Amino acid sequence: MKIFLFVLSILERALTSANHQELPRGHGEELGKHRDSDGHVEILQQLPSPQEFWNQYASLRKPVVFRGAAKKFPAFHLWTDQYLKDNYGELEVKLEAKREKDHVPVGERGLGRDTIRSFLETYQQKDSYTVSQLPDPLSTEVFVLPSLMCGSFSERILEANLWLSSGGTRSMLHKDADNAINCLLNGTKDWILIHPENEQNIPVADGDRGYGGFATLDVQSVNLIKYPKFKQVRWQYANMTPGDCLFLPYSYWHQVRSYGSKNMAVSVLFSRLTEFDPIGCESAKLEYTPLSDVNMVWTYPGYGPQTMGNLDPFEMKDHYISFVESKKSKRLDIEDFFQLLTEGEVMEEHEDVRRNIAEKVLKIMDAENKGYVTKQDIEALTIEQVKQVANEIDPDPANTEEYEFAVFDLKEVKSVFNQALQDGHGKLTKDNLIARYEDFGGSAKVAKELYNMLQPKNADFVSEEELRERLDHVLKLYLKKKDDDKSGIFYEKELAEDKEIMKQTQLPSDSLDSIHRESTHSEL
Ligand SMILES: *[C@@H]1O[C@H](CO)[C@@H](O)[C@H](O)[C@H]1NC(C)=O
Repeated sequence: MKIFLFVLSILERALTSANHQELPRGHGEELGKHRDSDGHVEILQQLPSPQEFWNQYASLRKPVVFRGAAKKFPAFHLWTDQYLKDNYGELEVKLEAKREKDHVPVGERGLGRDTIRSFLETYQQKDSYTVSQLPDPLSTEVFVLPSLMCGSFSERILEANLWLSSGGTRSMLHKDADNAINCLLNGTKDWILIHPENEQNIPVADGDRGYGGFATLDVQSVNLIKYPKFKQVRWQYANMTPGDCLFLPYSYWHQVRSYGSKNMAVSVLFSRLTEFDPIGCESAKLEYTPLSDVNMVWTYPGYGPQTMGNLDPFEMKDHYISFVESKKSKRLDIEDFFQLLTEGEVMEEHEDVRRNIAEKVLKIMDAENKGYVTKQDIEALTIEQVKQVANEIDPDPANTEEYEFAVFDLKEVKSVFNQALQDGHGKLTKDNLIARYEDFGGSAKVAKELYNMLQPKNADFVSEEELRERLDHVLKLYLKKKDDDKSGIFYEKELAEDKEIMKQTQLPSDSLDSIHRESTHSEL
């Protein structure tokens, strides 16, 4: 707190010496007002061959729009709300708030989880955004672009994601770890795109210096007094209309705003590649190909845990090989794996969990139980085995069905039960529990499950005695250890600080929702 106040007082001093005329351009305005853009990213009407795509875009990490390329997808015409409900209604998707990291919405399947049917029945009213791994059954109606259909590209397709909302979403400024082709099926999307060479001038959240990560900026109100270096950040933009696809290179900073009463996109992720092996390109038929017909590393059946944002097993394998080569002993043992996890900031606060992961990783790789692995052992690993390793290393609680238990604090849930008990004057009813638990931010689904776990003898309530006897045992579910969302925590603090500073410097702006567009296109 002291440090926080100290920072504030320095900023205040800086502010009093700067009168309003001297405020930097774009201060307190949305992202992209600090300087003129470098223009729209390149737009292609025709798709490049895989080799051309590698030479002219992917290898240079140059974004490009493929105009109208997704109009060929069956999904483009088929995926009305009714069709999706009728054919895929029971499949489960993950939810986020329309403003990234704002809160986690509740769906029919718990915190941050919904069925496609329930989502489509509520998304016009709720602040809820499907940001999910694409359930496999839907992948028959999505195509992979011909530009990816041979050589290293087609060998290394990692995962597919679905983005669906009623428009008005705002992402944070962030970068993703893999290459992506993002295809818009409904609505419009505007992207602010910032080349990685600008990173030194972007405030990056703690622990987010890897391939993926978040900027701690408030994208609706950029604080250029606190972050003066951001004034130098150059940017381009991309305006997408339905049917357009965007190639977004890995670790390329971007912010996305979406519009339209239905905004829907599918993205296909592929490896960061350091070279392109054109194997098979001469004979390959370069056609639009159903996503269900290519080998994708991470799939998702539409229920159970997801693997969204999981590691690239090909790259992981290469990484382990160079690591073992660098060791004098030419072996990796449990300490080496532990060290790798520590360096990778995996479960930073939980050394015991990290040890546990290291053990499991070694066990998967060390088939003969030697207590170490050699380069030959690693080379012999199948991609399936490396995927198992990846699953151990990078557990994102938001991908699990137990997310709700990982997010909430045990003590707070306990007080929710006590409130509900008071509401019923010493009798805990299911309805009171659901009401209090939903107020608290949890889902009716889990409230019902917790209630049933208390195994009430009475038909319509749990007695106080039963509650005292069994509650602690039931609430053990909330003891799950997890990694802190560093960028989320940092971002919240940032927003609080920003509000203070802005109060003193911001000129009255018309509306935070004012839409930035360098070139306008008609709204759907
Ligand atoms: C979504 O896109 C399809 C295909 O272009 C179109 O028929 C439909 O009207 C769109 N729906 C909305 C709500 O924009």
